[in-house]
Amino acid sequence: MKMLKPVLVVLTGYLLLKFGIPFIGSQLHPGTWPVVPTSVMKMYMFFLIVGTLMIYSFSEEGYAAVIQPAVNLYVDPARGTARMAVILAVGALGAYVTYQYVKPTFDAPVELRSIHPAPPSSVKACVKTYQLQGLKNPFREDKASFAKHVEEGGVVYFQNCYFCHGDRMLGKGPYYDGFNPLPANFVDVGTIAQLTESFVFWRIATGGPGLPSEGTPWVSAMPVWHELLTEEQVWKVIMFLYDYTGHSPRVTAPVHH
Ligand code: HEC
Repeated sequence: MKMLKPVLVVLTGYLLLKFGIPFIGSQLHPGTWPVVPTSVMKMYMFFLIVGTLMIYSFSEEGYAAVIQPAVNLYVDPARGTARMAVILAVGALGAYVTYQYVKPTFDAPVELRSIHPAPPSSVKACVKTYQLQGLKNPFREDKASFAKHVEEGGVVYFQNCYFCHGDRMLGKGPYYDGFNPLPANFVDVGTIAQLTESFVFWRIATGGPGLPSEGTPWVSAMPVWHELLTEEQVWKVIMFLYDYTGHSPRVTAPVHH
């Protein structure tokens, strides 16, 4: 039982760090209970344990006391079972730590995501290359058939987009909650209301995979629609998005010379 003293020292040190430091903090700032970060706790405990072992193993006698239990465990024929248990436990601990490191996580990445990154100057979609600058919705000018275009866009929406973006365009379709980032909420003023139609066209045509690196590392589930829809369908669904939400697309003011 010579090990009792160093063990008590480490235990007391632990309790002082764990509760003593927050206690001092709570006296300095009444009403708070600051916690010591885990990383700092680990560092303090490392020095505490190593320091205690060094002090207690300084003399021959102390060294024997510290080392003896371990030596006994490994050489005493009578302690075969305990020995096996320790060996298995060390192996299991290693396996557990390794598993914790490699297992995939579904937490949000620490890096921030740029929600509306700068679009490329041109985009290849629907077997064509578009210059995004100045790109216009060809159906927007056709005032006579406005209602028809919007209605056709609505069909596209409910056949393709509704599942994620939802029937009220709040980004809460039947499949929405498995995704991070979440599907865009078009009613919110932070999405299509502040975007030009050419930007929206780019986002719909090339989806999550079309985002530049500042729009990642969040893996966007937004599909690549130019592979499934025609150019006309994309423009019409854009008209539907704006008409339904009551937002108007952002327009870039014409340049006067
Ligand atoms: C599988 C789910 C899913 C489907 C289906 C889907 N989207 Fe998305 N969409 C997302 C997610 C997730 C985001 C947010 C991440 C991002 O910006 O890429 C998003 C973002 C967008 C944005 C960008 C909004 C912004 O503020 O930048 C537009 C526009 C958009 N979707 C339109 C559509 C249209 C139109 C359709 C149907 C043709 C559609 N989406 C179908 C998941 C989906």
